[in-house]
Amino acid sequence: MADVPRETIQKVVGTRRLKEAMPKPAKGRIFVVANQKGGVGKTTTAVNIAAALSMGGLKVLVVDLDPQGNASTALGVEHKVSMGVYEVLMGSTQIKDVIQKCAGFPVLDCLPSNTSLAQAEINLVSMVARESRLKDALNEIKDNYDYIFIDCPPSLGLLTVNAFSAATEVLIPIQCEYYALEGLSQLLETYKIVKQRLNSELTLSTIVLTMFDSRTRLANDVVANVRSHFPRELIDIPIPRAVRLSEAPSYSQTVMTYDPSSTGAIAYMQVAREIAERGKAFDSNVVRIDHKLLNKTGDIA
Ligand SMILES: Nc1ncnc2c1ncn2[C@@H]1O[C@H](COP(=O)(O)OP(=O)(O)OP(=O)(O)O)[C@@H](O)[C@H]1O
Ligand SMILES: [Mg+2]
Repeated sequence: MADVPRETIQKVVGTRRLKEAMPKPAKGRIFVVANQKGGVGKTTTAVNIAAALSMGGLKVLVVDLDPQGNASTALGVEHKVSMGVYEVLMGSTQIKDVIQKCAGFPVLDCLPSNTSLAQAEINLVSMVARESRLKDALNEIKDNYDYIFIDCPPSLGLLTVNAFSAATEVLIPIQCEYYALEGLSQLLETYKIVKQRLNSELTLSTIVLTMFDSRTRLANDVVANVRSHFPRELIDIPIPRAVRLSEAPSYSQTVMTYDPSSTGAIAYMQVAREIAERGKAFDSNVVRIDHKLLNKTGDIA
């Protein structure tokens, strides 16, 4: 991300709220935002949906589980020197002591990442209950939130497994490009294993298409392909490729404060409302999905 001179970073003042509130979920929802493919829009999706739901009057927490710390940056929280999710996973601090508030929103909190998190994959290996350390920590505070989003790194290691174990739902962002579905079968396999062994409540409920360019045939083909495999999970509002979305993090902001009337902000707002509407009646026990495994080119394996 480009470094922006300090004087150009504008502090967010005031609190953003929507006129029309979004519905509260039947019970708290915890989303793991995962795709082991890098750069597909996981962080952009997690922080902007979280920000939009908060503007809709819901209580939201973002957990930055990526050592890159991009979600913490986008939410404008300090994450270079403070303790964060790493210390929580290691058991050296209490989760409630490291959660930070994000400026500009009614209730939008962040459990930040920091560079120490890069050691977590190694240090977790020898720990007791290594797959459920995040779940145990979130259990202490989850009742304070309507929505929790866990932003994963681009891998399927122990951090991502911790996120899958802690979540109630999986949200997969898929970039509208060639090989968009590459690696999806591996991700679905991980989901299936965690569901069987660690977290039977987990449901793949939501797929969001990102960086959509309606002018290209390829992007439209990807939409059609994903819709045919995941008709119920797909949110039928693709996020367009939009420059404001990529600029916002360099100002330590989500697009909801950086440029709320931009096409990217409007699209994420619509997606957030759709997620909230679905959540009114969401019950993971009654959602049953026939997950077809996809091969590299997106055909059914
Ligand atoms: N809809 C969009 N339009 C334009 N740029 C976008 C869009 N979505 C994301 N980007 C940009 O693409 C890059 C990758 O996005 P993002 O960081 O959200 O992906 P990621 O999956 O979290 O990446 P990583 O795997 O590294 O964690 C970023 O520079 C982001 O600003
Ligand atoms: Mg990311």
